[in-house]
Amino acid sequence: MSDITIHQPSAEFVKQANVSGMAAYEALCKKAETDYEGFWAEQARELLSWKTPFTKVLDESNAPFFKWFEDGTLNASYNCLDRNIEKGLGDKTAIIFEADGGEVTKATYSQLLAKTCQYANALKSVGVKKGDRVMIYISMSIEGVAAMQACARIGATHSVVFGGFSAQSLRDRVEDTGAVAIITADQQVRGGKHLPLKAIVDEALTLGGCDSVKNVLVVNRTGGDIAMTAGRDQWMADLADKQATTCEPEWVGAEHPLFLLYTSGSTGKPKGVQHSTGGYLLHAALTTKWTFDLKDNDVFWCTADIGWVTGHTYITYGPLALGGTEIVFEGVPTYPDAGRFWKMIQDHKVSIFYTAPTAIRSLIKAAEANDAVHPKSYDLSSLRLLGSVGEPINPAAWEWYYKHVGGSRCPIVDTFWQTETGGHMITPLPGVTPMVPGSCTLPFPGIQAAVVDEAGHDMPNGQGGILVVKRPWPSMIRTIWNDPERFIKSYYPEEFKGKYYLAGDGAIRDEKTGYFTITGRIDDVLNVSGHRMGTMEIESALVSCTELVAEAAVVGRPDDTTGEAICAFVVLKRSRPTGDEAKAIAKILRDHVGKEIGPIAKPKDIRFGDNLPKTRSGKIMRRLLRSLAKNEAITQDTSTLENPAILDQLTDNH
Ligand code: WT7
Repeated sequence: MSDITIHQPSAEFVKQANVSGMAAYEALCKKAETDYEGFWAEQARELLSWKTPFTKVLDESNAPFFKWFEDGTLNASYNCLDRNIEKGLGDKTAIIFEADGGEVTKATYSQLLAKTCQYANALKSVGVKKGDRVMIYISMSIEGVAAMQACARIGATHSVVFGGFSAQSLRDRVEDTGAVAIITADQQVRGGKHLPLKAIVDEALTLGGCDSVKNVLVVNRTGGDIAMTAGRDQWMADLADKQATTCEPEWVGAEHPLFLLYTSGSTGKPKGVQHSTGGYLLHAALTTKWTFDLKDNDVFWCTADIGWVTGHTYITYGPLALGGTEIVFEGVPTYPDAGRFWKMIQDHKVSIFYTAPTAIRSLIKAAEANDAVHPKSYDLSSLRLLGSVGEPINPAAWEWYYKHVGGSRCPIVDTFWQTETGGHMITPLPGVTPMVPGSCTLPFPGIQAAVVDEAGHDMPNGQGGILVVKRPWPSMIRTIWNDPERFIKSYYPEEFKGKYYLAGDGAIRDEKTGYFTITGRIDDVLNVSGHRMGTMEIESALVSCTELVAEAAVVGRPDDTTGEAICAFVVLKRSRPTGDEAKAIAKILRDHVGKEIGPIAKPKDIRFGDNLPKTRSGKIMRRLLRSLAKNEAITQDTSTLENPAILDQLTDNH
């Protein structure tokens, strides 16, 4: 890696940083190494308010079901709201909400607490209690954040489903959680269009398996025409407006499940990742403080949706736990034009901006075609720190982001983490780490990340391997809801003797610097525009179109904008279509996948064959499909292939 560019954080940034200089970082790492539990306990005492202080830090007796701060009690919403008001921040703006159409609404900490309490009391009034699961299917809004905080306040476990998921996906999650209530909105507004939410909830609840749901509470967003089922559905405002604006927090044990969030794995069914209250909130707050260097006068903007873990940790919990001011944005980066992000940074004087490489890449394209939406046409001088998340950022996009958005002045934190990790794992600290574009650099203090071989032995730097975490950390996944066996199999498989957390990614460390670069998933998980999807999940959706599809195999291929693109190889029950007919059937299948999972899972390419490339024992040769998807010449050994002629058919020759 001799031709790499290294970008140093400016002396000015380093001077003011919450963690300032490499020596400070090394001291924190050293402290964590010599006294692991003491390191985390100190942070947990400093950053969180406990109703009952914990006396135990880490309990490894039932590994890999680790427990942190188990005998301590606390409440997440108390920590995010009341505590800041007690510190005198009641009139400080917590959330600046900008709607799709540009209207701005603000909520102070006092106002957000009042709304949270009214929602909490509303939930209680319909019988929701501690330990119940509540689904939230809502777009980006102050109400969405308040709904999550309200669940936390009464000890109900929330499970947010991204508004782009279909009725079928929502149904599957409702059934798996056994949720007693759903909080939704009439509609959502994105890119100038009104899209259904409540109607999709209605559909999900007719698909069966959702008898646990007794109440649907509907936030009025658009006033659009929706149906209300008597005895089950109510307008949230009708119920909440008459509630008290105070609500005693339910003090829960640190291990109490704060939320379940479904994510894709290598088998068909999404897994309900269970997070704790104490350990999760600690890491949310600590990473916001150290990675994002959040200060009292910052305006923080994480562009993720609250339907993903990034929105949980860096919208609903982390910035609020530190008393910060943050943006919540309803719309999309390209509406009314591709200058929307830059205009919002200018208008709200955003100082810390956190987004995904896929968004940056699409905005680069737009900016290069049209000066009016280029960052140079906006005043971005309020920015002091940039972040990236969700997928590897290619060096060219990194350099553009650094130069044109950050004015070559703002450090970029390329944060590697996962739904399961709860918060950042490997990331530069902005006042510490010399940055190398495309590398997420070094582990967050206390995180024992390593690259190992299949037997769990450390790989020397410069040689790629499997990314693991050697010690449990506070915000780690606790289990997979309803499936502890799958938790063990997915994350603590026997190869590592149950010792190390297996991230599911490959990684390589630089020979000289020891910096980590993520080399991509080592399982059948795709990353499309930063959205995680299982190939088997998409295959199941395709074959569920039983009248048409006999067999399907899905692989990823590189894509300039979305990182990876979904490529499906399909065998139909009828003869192989060509030309316009193939196009028409591909559209039917795409729409079918959209209905089964959601629009984000629609394959970009669909190719038809009389069969799939298989070994004599009938196993699909996916590595060949991956080459075909990339349109690269087949150089692999095909001698075990039973039907070599099929390769020609599956080659893209349109
Ligand atoms: C997978 C996790 C964590 C928030 C959003 C995604 C990939 C994530 C990076 C990064 C390279 C990254 C990994 C990981 N990923 N961040 N900075 N550099 N790859 O959460 O949906 O759970 O996906 O996203 O492959 O395993 P997620």
